[in-house]
Amino acid sequence: MIFKALRLNIDVRDSIFNELYPLHIQKLAQRHWTPVAVAKMAAQYLAEEPYKKVLDIGAGAGKFCLVGASCTDGIFYGVEQREALTKLSTDIAERHRIENVEFIHANIDQIDFSDYDAFYFYNSFYENIDTSCPIDELIPAHKDLFYSYTDYVKSQLEQTPVGTRVVTYWSGEDEIPGSFHLDATAYHGLLNFWRKS
Ligand SMILES: C[S@@+](CC[C@H](N)C(=O)[O-])C[C@H]1O[C@@H](n2cnc3c(N)ncnc32)[C@H](O)[C@@H]1O
Repeated sequence: MIFKALRLNIDVRDSIFNELYPLHIQKLAQRHWTPVAVAKMAAQYLAEEPYKKVLDIGAGAGKFCLVGASCTDGIFYGVEQREALTKLSTDIAERHRIENVEFIHANIDQIDFSDYDAFYFYNSFYENIDTSCPIDELIPAHKDLFYSYTDYVKSQLEQTPVGTRVVTYWSGEDEIPGSFHLDATAYHGLLNFWRKS
């Protein structure tokens, strides 16, 4: 029902979508997972043409990718360092037969951005700076990791072709090279749409 509604462009409340997840994952939603309406808006910008390959940098429980794959004709890839979250997202995609999505268990610094056309980023590395609401205790936080992952993403984005689109949510501009310009903004500046000039 949830994914059929998204395909038909019917609004789905976050409280309903989050019921796809076990309780401990639902409890993290407010702080860590993209709201459905935000994911829809971001995905429609990134997958502006069919078959665009969209990478979610730190896919968490897969919410952005699952919503994006359901409401666009893009192909969504979510890279996530926590294996249990990758497994959970994959199970949901398989159970609901969402075929234009794939979840990859890896660290972002193992990913070559030239394999993708567009990128989504929900301040994934901030967990290394603000440890007030951790996803779990499995991945130790280190300030240095924030800077090294940020540098990696920025250097990968520097190598992308002109016209590449990026959407950031609750993020600064640290990951965005100067060659990108701000195309549009929404949610009082929290959701930003970038395009390489
Ligand atoms: C704020 S959550 C966003 C989840 C998802 N993008 C969404 O919008 O629903 C950030 C996720 O990034 C993951 N993450 C953080 N650093 C990472 C890294 N270096 N490589 C892969 N995933 C990472 C975290 O484990 C967490 O699940």
